[in-house]
Amino acid sequence: MKPLPSRRRKTQGFSLGLFALCLATARSLQSQGVSLYIPHPTINATVKEDILLSVDYSCHGVPTIEWKYTSSWGAQKIVEWKPGTQANISQSHKDRVCTFDNGSIQLFSVGVRDSGYYIITVTEHLGSSQFGTIVLHVSEILYEDLHFVAVFLAFLAAVAAVLISLMWVCNKCAYKFQRKRRHKLKESTTEEIELQDVEC
Ligand SMILES: *[C@@H]1O[C@H](CO)[C@@H](O)[C@H](O)[C@H]1NC(C)=O
Ligand SMILES: *[C@@H]1O[C@H](CO)[C@@H](O)[C@H](O)[C@H]1NC(C)=O
Ligand SMILES: *[C@@H]1O[C@H](CO)[C@@H](O)[C@H](O)[C@H]1NC(C)=O
Repeated sequence: MKPLPSRRRKTQGFSLGLFALCLATARSLQSQGVSLYIPHPTINATVKEDILLSVDYSCHGVPTIEWKYTSSWGAQKIVEWKPGTQANISQSHKDRVCTFDNGSIQLFSVGVRDSGYYIITVTEHLGSSQFGTIVLHVSEILYEDLHFVAVFLAFLAAVAAVLISLMWVCNKCAYKFQRKRRHKLKESTTEEIELQDVEC
């Protein structure tokens, strides 16, 4: 009756092994899905900037990466490629886009019309895919506007300063003149005043 428990242990060990195998298979099936990492889902930029739409992915094998662009002006494909091969860039973005092996793309010299949603789809050769979105806001260059406003304000301030000092000088002169006149008035006769008035 001794071998029985050992046989039991064997079957137990076997089923445990089977269970572990199932777990491993499940895990490897799970990890076959694409995972996508987007550090900056919203990007604010100004006109003429070069923008990196930065992403990173992990998956099995070499995937196909596709970027699409959607805005109120419509939707269009920007680029599609397999990392390590030549990218197929759409006519609308020729010479304006470069691609990186981690799935990121760079847009050169963006304009206000480039504002919108950029959708990346990473598709594994087995068919599973994952997509992510980056929102890009492109605004007019504020700096130059601010520069102009600053110069204009400085100009106004300078004009105001000149006017104020002029007024101050005039005020002083007028005061001196009045004092002189009062002094004269005290000394002179009414006739002289009339004469002065006539002179003026
Ligand atoms: C971008 O600008 C918006 C306002 O226009 C602001 O709410 C947002 O926080 C900004 N995002 C970044 C990443 O600077
Ligand atoms: C992707 O690659 C580019 C170029 O090498 C790099 O600048 C960017 O930071 C990378 N993105 C991520 C999320 O790692
Ligand atoms: C590039 O894309 C266009 C349109 O999406 C397609 O017609 C063409 O066959 C593609 N070229 C390559 C080399 O994949």
